[in-house]
This record gives sequence, C-alpha cells and structure tokens, in this order.
Amino acid sequence: MRAGAGFDADPPGDWQGKVRGNYDQHKLPANAIHTARPRTPTGVRQMKRQTSRRNFLAEMAAGAVVLPPALSLSGRSPESGPPPLPSGPSAPRDESWWELIRSQFSFTDERVPMNAANLCPSPRSVAARVEELTRDIDRDCSFNNRAKFRTLTEESRAAVAGQLGVSPDEIAIVRNTSESNNTINNGVPLSPGDEVVLWDQNHPTNNVAWDVRAARFGITVKRVSVPRHPASARELIDPFVAALTDRTRVLSLTHVSNVSGIRLPVRELVEAARPRGIHVHLDGAQSWGALDVNLRELGCDSYSASAHKWYMGPKEAGLLYVRESRIPEIWPNIVAPGWGNDADPDVEGARKFESLGQRDDACLAAVGTTADFHDAIGGPATEARVSELATMLKQGLAELGMTLVTPMDPALSGGVCIIEVPGDRGTALRRLYEEHGIAGAGTGGLRLCPHVYNTREHIDRAVAGVKALRDVILG
Ligand SMILES: Cc1ncc(COP(=O)(O)O)c(C=O)c1O
Repeated sequence: MRAGAGFDADPPGDWQGKVRGNYDQHKLPANAIHTARPRTPTGVRQMKRQTSRRNFLAEMAAGAVVLPPALSLSGRSPESGPPPLPSGPSAPRDESWWELIRSQFSFTDERVPMNAANLCPSPRSVAARVEELTRDIDRDCSFNNRAKFRTLTEESRAAVAGQLGVSPDEIAIVRNTSESNNTINNGVPLSPGDEVVLWDQNHPTNNVAWDVRAARFGITVKRVSVPRHPASARELIDPFVAALTDRTRVLSLTHVSNVSGIRLPVRELVEAARPRGIHVHLDGAQSWGALDVNLRELGCDSYSASAHKWYMGPKEAGLLYVRESRIPEIWPNIVAPGWGNDADPDVEGARKFESLGQRDDACLAAVGTTADFHDAIGGPATEARVSELATMLKQGLAELGMTLVTPMDPALSGGVCIIEVPGDRGTALRRLYEEHGIAGAGTGGLRLCPHVYNTREHIDRAVAGVKALRDVILG
C-alpha cells in the first residue's frame, strides 16, 4: 500500500512504474538542490509578484512603500488607513519602527499574545501566502500545477539555511520540533550500554522519548540538573561536563528551556563534547526566530525547531538541521515516496528526513515568506528587541516582589520569562487573560514570552495585571 504524495489513488497493477513516473515529475533538476536560490518558473514569478512580500518590508523600511487602504496591514482596522512609515533606510529601530512591525499582525490589543514559547501569530503576509497558495492548489491540484512547489520549498530551505549559517542540504523542513527530536532520538545509531546525557529540563520529546528508546534498545539515559538560580555560565557547564564518560554517545540539550527560561551556553558545551565524538543535539524550539542563531558558530550536530513558535511561520512546519557529516549515519523515522526504491535515499542531504508522505505545500512555501519577514527586521535586531522586552518584563515583575524562575541576565536567558506561583496558577492565568487581555501560559510557573509583535505598552499591561492579581499569584 503506497500512501502519500498523491499515489494512494493509483489502481493496482504496474504501481511501481507509476510511482517512479509520478515521483520523477516532482524531482528537482539535479543542480537545483545545490543553489542558494533556485530559478523560479515564470508562473511562480508572476504569482510571487502579485502577492509575495519578498522585498516588501525592506522597501517599507526605506520609506518607499505606502499601503493602499485595501491592503492595509494594520491590526486595528483596515479603515484606519496605512500605518506611519519610517522615513529612510537608516530609520532607527525606535518605537515607531516596532509599532510598524506590530501592525503587520492581525491580533487586536484586546487579546494580546504573550506565549511565543507555545504558538505565535503569523504576520499577515504569511497568512495571506498560505491562503493564496492553498486556493491555488484547490483550483488546480494537478501534478502539473503543483510542480512549482518543489521550487518554492527549495526557496524556503535556502532562506532558512542562509539565516542559520548552514547549507540548504543540511536542512529538512519537517512538521514540528517534536518530530525533529524524535528523528534524532530514533535515528542516531546506538548500541546497548551506550549513554545518552540529557538536561532534565528537556521537553518530553527530547526527554521521556529517550527513556522509550532505552526500554527498547538497552541504552542508558543520564539526566543532568543545573542550579535553580544559576549565577554564571560556568554553573551551567560544569554539571554536564562532569556527566560525560567514555560511553557517552549523545548529549541532548535545549537551547532555552520552556520550563525555566534558562539559556544554556551551547558553544562551550559543544567544545567539551565534540572532541570525544559525542553527538550534540540541540532543541531550538525556544531559540529559532527569537535569538540570532548561527548553527556553525554553535557547533551542534543537530538542531530542531518549530516554525509556528518564535519564527512566526505557518502552523505545523518545523526544522531539522543535521550537520553534513552526520547525515548519512542517522536513520529516518519515516520512509515515504520520494525516498527511492532501496535503502539509500534518492534525495540529497537532510531532505531524507522530510520524506513524510503528502505535505501541505502551501505551508512549506510560506516558510520562505516568513524568512522574508525576518530578513526585513534582521536577526540581531530581533534578538535585541526580544531581550529588551523580556528584561523590561522581568524587572517590572521583580519590582512587584515576584520571584523570577528565569535569570535576569540576558546571557543566561532568552525570551521565555517565568515567575513562581505559590498561589492559584489557573485562576491567575485565566484572569490575566480575561481582565487584562494578556495570553500567557502556566508552564513552569506563570510564563510570559514577549516577541517583536509586542509593544512596551503590552509589557506595562502584563506587569499591571500581575500586580492586580498579586494575592492570587502569591496565595
Ligand atoms: C523546548 C521544546 N521542545 C519541543 C517542543 C514541542 O514543540 P512542537 O509542539 O511544536 O512540536 C516544545 C513546545 O513547547 C518546547 O518548548
């Protein structure tokens, strides 16, 4: 039974020939997978010209674009006209710039998202791209029409790879961090007696998932704890280094914890592990799109993330980076059409990890639109803004007498901000949302995660809300 990629409707008979024939239609030209920005067919170029915002924000930043009311990106009201624009290419990243970024999102100020660690809204350009391409498929779902999605997916891959400082061949666009973590968990070759060292704060998909593998295959899982309130990077490095032995094969980490907001000093941990041949896997669910991540500089062997979190991309798109030299040894979780007809994948590099059957092509293409949005802001500016808002929030909460779970030091944290809640967490969260319009989470305490679409006024409101709910939070 062949499922996925449009082959499940094939009648019985010469299915192998049909599968190869159909699949070949979708194959890229041999050179396409190595080019940073593959050639775009005319039809795609026309569609992109109509609606893609590849240069849109850059032009907007240069003051060259004034939005007609019909295309207004303002989150408040389309009738209110275009938002004010910065005056030139050197426009400072001041509050009016960030207001402009906020206006690219459709949420209203009555219901402010501050839970980027879980799910982010997408800018209108991304939502529009998903909608436009989905409609395009529904209008004509032939292989002929869908052939262009190979190119668009390659554009997404190249854009993401460029931002992360790696090769497109090292990037798989999968469905989410959970899937990426499990690909590493199931795919790294391990024998009975081999050790995997984990951070005990890892997400279940990078934590209990290793216990499941241990139960099946007899590996050993060692968990490392760090001080609850680390005062320096050294306090985060030493416990891991002390846990490594000659049997350690994998060091599986999280860049920024979703349950404490602690950011691990990854480069130093990689420096300790790599000379011993240890595979360092990094869960980047809380760093991709929030921090200015360069995977070559970090030096990890693999990295997982979700586009629908801080990257603000389409829902159910994710990332798996695997260092080129590691790709051949890692087994895929799923083998589907597109792989080939023998044990060696036909696809190049990390693409073997995204052979998952029929995909949502519109979603994969819209990852590239999201990359454009990030390029318009810039990785360093994004990280600086996230850090600025997170610091403002943490300082405001600390001044109220709240106990921070997350370090105040930006070097030891990211955008995830958590306070302890000895009182009634559920009521605090509900009332923060209903009475103050701030949507947070109850993970690790009271968790608030501001992003570039949040304003300083949103932070003030969150702090005022916590102040009003002080008795509920402190119990
Ligand atoms: C650190 C970490 N890893 C993995 C995940 C899973 O992400 P997803 O549900 O997008 O697969 C999360 C979700 O919050 C997370 O915080």
